[in-house]
Amino acid sequence: MLPAPLLEVRDLCVSFPSRGRMIPIVEHVSFTLGERDILGLVGESGSGKSVTAMALMGLIDSPGVQITGSALFRGQELVGLAQKQLLRLRGSEIAMIFQDPMTAFTPVYTIGWQIDEQIRAHERLSRKQARARTVELLADMGVPDPARTADRYPHQLSGGLRQRAMIAMALSCNPSLLIADEPTTALDVTVQAQILDLIRSLRSTYGSSVLLITHDMGVVAETCDTTLVLYSGRVAETGPTDALFAHPGHPYTAALLASIPPLDGPRPHRLPAIAGAPPAPLERPAGCAFAPRCSYAHETCRDAPPPLVPLVPAGQAGQAGQAGQNTGAQSAANIQQQSAQFAACVLPAEGTLLLPRLLEADTAMSSPGGIILGLSDQGIQPMLSSAGEPPL
Ligand SMILES: Nc1ncnc2c1ncn2[C@@H]1O[C@H](COP(=O)(O)OP(=O)(O)O)[C@@H](O)[C@H]1O
Ligand code: SF4
Ligand SMILES: [Mg+2]
Repeated sequence: MLPAPLLEVRDLCVSFPSRGRMIPIVEHVSFTLGERDILGLVGESGSGKSVTAMALMGLIDSPGVQITGSALFRGQELVGLAQKQLLRLRGSEIAMIFQDPMTAFTPVYTIGWQIDEQIRAHERLSRKQARARTVELLADMGVPDPARTADRYPHQLSGGLRQRAMIAMALSCNPSLLIADEPTTALDVTVQAQILDLIRSLRSTYGSSVLLITHDMGVVAETCDTTLVLYSGRVAETGPTDALFAHPGHPYTAALLASIPPLDGPRPHRLPAIAGAPPAPLERPAGCAFAPRCSYAHETCRDAPPPLVPLVPAGQAGQAGQAGQNTGAQSAANIQQQSAQFAACVLPAEGTLLLPRLLEADTAMSSPGGIILGLSDQGIQPMLSSAGEPPL
């Protein structure tokens, strides 16, 4: 029997009131995060990544917000949990870090004092014992001269050191789940790589699972076991990172992958960008929200949001067609199989996977949106670009 997952999110929906009606921001998001797993939640700005995380943490306090669905953390329901109990979970079992460490620290106290206080709020330790623990944590996070650094104020540290200190504070109570919302976005690439190394190491040193939120597929590729691609508040695709990168099942995933610079060979003059923008929440279409930007879109895509359907390895496309007959409820149940890949696109339901479709298109295809994808043995690669916009 498979071990129970740490976090099991089913059908999570978040809506905010606006001008007398409820506007859905996050719709039917489901995923499973296993013990010591790293799951990447990826999507363009405004796709609902932070709202998903804040809903799980019970941190949305907007008047009239409606949160439905289920999020079982070690079997305990987080949706609708009283603030008092959520408060107990936050900082002891679940911790969150943000893009800007200054949101976690107050500028008027040293970082050591702030981490000491966090430790003492949950454990009966003397000030001296708490400081010893703080110094140990900072050392674990790769902070040089941790005892001296603990006596410094947040503004006296570099961005990378502040981020390490924030992770130290988040881990001070040994949480089982760390939610990291764009933790490396504001950092330069070298520091970003170090912080990602650190996040990867947390599972062995602290036994933590991580929900890593990012808009950067490169970060996901380097760090995450499982990937969930969010588009306009809905799951576009989810699956093991290796499988999803090798055989994207949703044109949006393929387009995101095309915006990653190739690791070797000649660098394209410009990287492809996905032309257009996701629809504003008020203007979300009834059907697939990616349709206005998708070169495969046809009438069926515009009727209703496509349900998640399981993908199968290339060569077994007929089975994908059968799987496409699944109801939404069956598909949601299938997501429990963590090792499987699912996409919310009518292409797999047609019995034809995206990758063979691209192959059919004479090794390169051009979308009206300006994406040009080419295929190599490594999968989909950007070939040329017709778009002048910078990548995501
Ligand atoms: N408190 C709120 N009230 C109304 N709309 C909100 C609120 N918070 C976020 N939104 C909207 O939800 C959408 C998703 O936001 P967010 O989760 O922050 O995106 P992401 O983190 O993916 O960039 C955006 O359109 C944003 O304007
Ligand atoms: S459902 Fe249709 S519009 Fe949406 S991504 Fe798939 S082919 Fe494109
Ligand atoms: Mg965000």
